[in-house]
Amino acid sequence: MSAARYAVFGHPVAHSLSPRIHTSFARDCGLSIQYAAIDAAPGTFAEQLAQFAAGGGRGANVTLPLKQVALAQCAETSEFAARAGAVNTLSPLPHGGWRGDNTDGVGLVRDLTRRHGLDLRARRTLVLGAGGAARAAAFALLDAGVSDLMIINRTPERADALADAIGQPRRVHTRYWQDLPNCGGFELIVNATSAGHAGKGLDLPIELMTSHTLCYDLSYGGAAFPFLAWARVARAAQAIDGLGMLIEQAAESFELWHGQRPDTDALYAQLRAELPLHATD
Ligand code: ATR
Repeated sequence: MSAARYAVFGHPVAHSLSPRIHTSFARDCGLSIQYAAIDAAPGTFAEQLAQFAAGGGRGANVTLPLKQVALAQCAETSEFAARAGAVNTLSPLPHGGWRGDNTDGVGLVRDLTRRHGLDLRARRTLVLGAGGAARAAAFALLDAGVSDLMIINRTPERADALADAIGQPRRVHTRYWQDLPNCGGFELIVNATSAGHAGKGLDLPIELMTSHTLCYDLSYGGAAFPFLAWARVARAAQAIDGLGMLIEQAAESFELWHGQRPDTDALYAQLRAELPLHATD
């Protein structure tokens, strides 16, 4: 019998670590799978996904810039994916069509709490950005119990729209970027912008920092370096990239498909050694 087929769709996708992560989980769990990386532009994604299903595809992950487009392809979605407005995991439904889940939020919270030992309750939190990644992070952090969430975005209307969608005016606030120096200190600062993918840093004031601030970038590798470099200069207590979140969201997808939870620690240690948190050049 040939191995069950899985894939990650993205654009670009050649750099994706998902094939390696899922193949490693499958090996550890004694399963035989094929996991490919499929480059798909938003305009051709629906057709390519249909071809994948016709070819026996048993599940797919979806990465940038397809997470919103993927939601539109789902006959059914989890409540969290519907709230976040984005899907990163597709599972075939028994009578055809796809169910969409979003495991990014739970991946972020598991990495922060389980791997990095953070108690999120009562943390005053700042989320930078208001795109798809920020939406999943904001909903997940609120579900996990952060006390107070501030959302700041370059385009303030998008921050307001996200705050409106969350609908908890006593816990969730927005400000203009230029007001950041007057917002006080935060115990958790999450960079959910895509600025680092273009090699750009963010204009952030030192006043955001407390003596125990944890700075977390949802990206990993070079895309996380500008924000993490600022965090170190501003004396953050910890500055962490999203590698652990990537592995935890993959573990969650893996469990949805295969009903087994893989161990993530050994793989994290292995990939961490290859992707150090500090720029090496
Ligand atoms: P994703 O799905 O990764 O969240 P997105 O929906 O395109 O991608 O959102 C990108 C986010 O990064 C947005 O919040 C964007 O701000 P705008 O809404 O103003 O576009 C933010 N972003 C991208 N480049 C940025 C930069 N150079 N400085 C500040 N914010 C930036």
